Amino acid sequence: MVLLGKLAIVTGAGSGIGRATCRVLARDGARVIAADRNLRAAEQTAKDIGIDHVVALELDVASLESVTKAVAASIAQFKQPPSIVVNSAGITRDGYLLKLTEKDYDDVYKVNLKGTFLMAQQFARAMIEHHVRNGSIINISSIVARISNPGQANYAATKAGVISLTEIAAKEFGKFGIRVNAILPGFINTPMVEVVPDKVKEDVLRRCPMGRLGRPEEIAEVIAFLASEKASYVNGSAIEVTGGLK
Ligand SMILES: NC(=O)c1ccc[n+]([C@@H]2O[C@H](COP(=O)([O-])OP(=O)(O)OC[C@H]3O[C@@H](n4cnc5c(N)ncnc54)[C@H](O)[C@@H]3O)[C@@H](O)[C@H]2O)c1
Repeated sequence: MVLLGKLAIVTGAGSGIGRATCRVLARDGARVIAADRNLRAAEQTAKDIGIDHVVALELDVASLESVTKAVAASIAQFKQPPSIVVNSAGITRDGYLLKLTEKDYDDVYKVNLKGTFLMAQQFARAMIEHHVRNGSIINISSIVARISNPGQANYAATKAGVISLTEIAAKEFGKFGIRVNAILPGFINTPMVEVVPDKVKEDVLRRCPMGRLGRPEEIAEVIAFLASEKASYVNGSAIEVTGGLK
């Protein structure tokens, strides 16, 4: 129970990696706020794991108003802000550059990069104001930030941005006892990859030394490590969890 007594907020908690993270953090003793734009999905996460451990919250990470409300709601319910923040909300709108629409560019930017910025800024501010020490912010980037798949310019750019944001936040927040790290998952079996064409998936499996997609729990376990005091000197890092896919 390495996270006993800790409070966590997980975005994108209604599906995939976010949902698995809620399960693993709760297993390790944390109380978890499962936040998602899709409230029903977040409620399902809470129901599956047990409402004694997980509460659902409607949150749009792309909206400053929604994020500040989430900070206020956490403090109202738990008398303190979370010390663990997991930014897993993310979307793809793939398309080759010459055809990519402004809307698909903006939508991906708003959720993946601006959303990570708003969450990190607002929750770090609350931690500092409430004298929370041993904070841990974990941002979910992607291996696509490094392998730059054609057709994913908008997504890859936001995920590379998440790495830069993480490194700078780690430098700025270290003095407040808040660590900030990023995880770069490879191809993980979640609803997000269901839309990836079979040909692309087969190519990924060929290039992955493990020869299989990852499971959401395999990302969640690394998140739980980074959230815990076991990772007390891990800060500003970008950890690949890809089965060796490069
Ligand atoms: N699945 C993969 O292979 C993979 C690989 C690398 C990185 N990632 C990243 O991991 C994270 C989780 O991906 P996943 O595979 O679990 O995806 P998913 O599609 O299964 O889940 C994403 C969740 O985010 C929520 N969400 C979307 N926009 C939101 C918003 N504005 N505010 C709050 N919640 C919002 C959705 O409702 C959904 O529940 C994403 O950031 C994704 O980019 C995934």
